[in-house]
Amino acid sequence: MIKIILFSILIRSVCLEQFLDSSNDEYNIGVGIADITGPAAQTNMMGYAKVGQDTAGIHFRLFSRAFVIEDKHGNRICFVSADLCMIDTLTTLEVVKRLKKYEGLYTEKNVMLTSTHTHSGSGGYLQYALYSVTTGGFIRENFYAIADGIVRSIDRAHSRMAKARIYFNRGNLFNASINRSPTAYENNPNEEKAKYELNTDKTMYVFKFIDLNGEPIGMISWFAVHCTSMNNTNTQISGDNKGYASQIFERGFNVDQLPGKGPFVAAFANANLGDVSPNINGPHCSINGASCDNPTSTCSIGSGECIASGPGADMFESTRIIAERQYEKAKELFELSIDRLAGGIASIHQYIDMTNVSVPLPDGSNARTCKPALGMSFAAGTTDGPGVSIFKQGISLSNVFTDQIHRFTNFSIPDLSECHYPKPILLPTGLMKVPYDWTAEILPTQIFKIGNFFIVAVPAEFSTMSGRRLRESLVSITKSENIIITGPSNAYSHYVTTFEEYQVQRYEGASTIYGPHTLSGHISQFEKLMTNLLSGIEIEPGPSPPNLLSRQIESKNIVAFDSKPLNSKFGDCKQNVDNFYAVGSTVTVTFISANPRNNLMIEKSFLTVEYFNESSSTWQIVASDVNYETNFIWEEKNKLLHQSKAIIKWNIPTSTSSGTYKIRHFGYHKNILGQTQPFSGETNEFYVL
Ligand SMILES: *[C@@H]1O[C@H](CO)[C@@H](O)[C@H](O)[C@H]1NC(C)=O
Ligand SMILES: *[C@@H]1O[C@H](CO)[C@@H](O)[C@H](O)[C@H]1NC(C)=O
Ligand SMILES: *[C@@H]1O[C@H](CO)[C@@H](O)[C@H](O)[C@H]1NC(C)=O
Ligand SMILES: *[C@@H]1O[C@H](CO)[C@@H](O)[C@H](O)[C@H]1NC(C)=O
Ligand SMILES: *[C@@H]1O[C@H](CO)[C@@H](O)[C@H](O)[C@H]1NC(C)=O
Repeated sequence: MIKIILFSILIRSVCLEQFLDSSNDEYNIGVGIADITGPAAQTNMMGYAKVGQDTAGIHFRLFSRAFVIEDKHGNRICFVSADLCMIDTLTTLEVVKRLKKYEGLYTEKNVMLTSTHTHSGSGGYLQYALYSVTTGGFIRENFYAIADGIVRSIDRAHSRMAKARIYFNRGNLFNASINRSPTAYENNPNEEKAKYELNTDKTMYVFKFIDLNGEPIGMISWFAVHCTSMNNTNTQISGDNKGYASQIFERGFNVDQLPGKGPFVAAFANANLGDVSPNINGPHCSINGASCDNPTSTCSIGSGECIASGPGADMFESTRIIAERQYEKAKELFELSIDRLAGGIASIHQYIDMTNVSVPLPDGSNARTCKPALGMSFAAGTTDGPGVSIFKQGISLSNVFTDQIHRFTNFSIPDLSECHYPKPILLPTGLMKVPYDWTAEILPTQIFKIGNFFIVAVPAEFSTMSGRRLRESLVSITKSENIIITGPSNAYSHYVTTFEEYQVQRYEGASTIYGPHTLSGHISQFEKLMTNLLSGIEIEPGPSPPNLLSRQIESKNIVAFDSKPLNSKFGDCKQNVDNFYAVGSTVTVTFISANPRNNLMIEKSFLTVEYFNESSSTWQIVASDVNYETNFIWEEKNKLLHQSKAIIKWNIPTSTSSGTYKIRHFGYHKNILGQTQPFSGETNEFYVL
């Protein structure tokens, strides 16, 4: 009897607490940012899978942005948005392993690693073999640049936690995205299409973080669009439209700080971007500007390739415009946000073997997902990066990597073909196990809950309608409209289209690697996660993905040594400045340089633009290789002697103060014994009018 009374008092006090507690919307929040820029030379870029698209400089640096949020009961989550094409399984495993130093505060379950999907970062950091083909093997220095940097961003967020609140807003952003496979979208059922006005999602979601003094400390926005404003001819490392949107947003709060240095952190995360392009002028034939054949995205002979572009005159301008449009919408939503998040934090995570998920069909029977395989249209690429096949020219059998796997491409695969029907299989990656798995089989699935808000981490590029179906199924469970789908997150498994889009076998369908029922498999998995999350039922961790770090075959492309012309020094300025420049013009200078891979200059820079402050008689850094307005371009002039030069450009912003300036270049050179030494050089002084 007494027990019952005590129990009911307890229950009542718990309810009262929830009802009366005004601190329900107070969280402990920390934000952090860190440099994750990989090798700025001779490294194939991750995204377009284009042989020869190797890094040769930096437009602006890549960052990991971390947000740690803890409720008053000590339940904690960590959300990361990184300027990467995708997060690899191996990156997640490594980051979580390093975070063990926090003794259980951060685990696979409550750390969510998401990518902006920039196609202009260095590759070679993924553990499955498919992604090492164009890079000629695994690139350890990039893998560690990324893993170290993500951990550093989380360390910084962790060390800065303080009481804060989260506000939320959403709104539509038009004019920043189009559907790049409209013929696949059209194949969705009419009654489903009728529920939506447009064939891409225009909703941007914004979280605004404010400390208890009312000072803004950070922002996360989510908006579905490919980070492919920079096309497959680019060789300068770039965060593309989302990376630059972050810089513009942060600049508004971190006054007089270089990008990546101030306390305020703004992430532009991605969503169901699978069929969504930022190249909003749409596809045209590259030679004569004619319309492409839309179902196949091809041009008639002599018309060139079918390529989408715009809205700018070139890819740099397009990047800036799409960045500014995302920034402006995010800023507006940020300023107008009044809804406050309140309630407890929870997270749920489970690994799943995606190759054999049972999926109930409408007729009562069951279908299954398949062992992974890529279809023929995968090799066709997209209108954002057409005609790129990993089996095209440039990958010879003398390549160490392809040599090893060559003998395993002779297969016969009737069962797989049937499972993937109607996909004509180009690469049966699920059967390709040498030297190790070619694509992922075990995938992470994860959901965060903050009060009545849910962040759903999908390990793939979901098409517009796939994201909508997943969201609808989860809304029916949560009765909350506040469901944010973010990806690609935690691992990479190419694309997810609807069953109907899959039938059309555009690039996205051909890249839906677990077959026509992939989306249904994900939906049933996330429904299970959501149900358990809401009822607080623990879930078993699921099968562990392999950690293939020790088995990676490394790229043989390493820096041998650097040399310089006779009678010169590393850092000598060869093309010097003029005396005077107007704002809006461009300073272009060149230096005798060395391979940027000798030292990645992480959290540092290959260049500085410096202003002479008369009143303090000091040189002040006003820009570095982290800025959008600078370009660091590296060229190997003599491949035999490894002589190289750095071209540095500064597009002088109109806001620049007049006065005396100089440009400096920094690097490391390597001698034939493999020892590296720092060097630097500088231009003459020049005057900005
Ligand atoms: C989209 O941009 C065009 C011109 O670039 C403009 O005319 C139109 O009003 C814009 N639409 C929206 C919805 O912003
Ligand atoms: C990439 O963009 C540049 C302009 O910046 C353009 O000249 C080139 O044709 C584009 N190439 C492709 C393949 O899209
Ligand atoms: C898939 O799983 C079922 C059991 O759920 C099993 O009977 C079947 O053999 C599996 N198929 C494959 C290809 O592994
Ligand atoms: C492929 O395998 C079959 C049978 O295992 C063999 O007869 C054939 O010669 C092989 N083809 C190639 C190109 O290696
Ligand atoms: C120059 O230095 C002084 C003293 O450190 C400082 O107050 C001023 O803001 C600086 N000027 C510029 C343009 O940065």
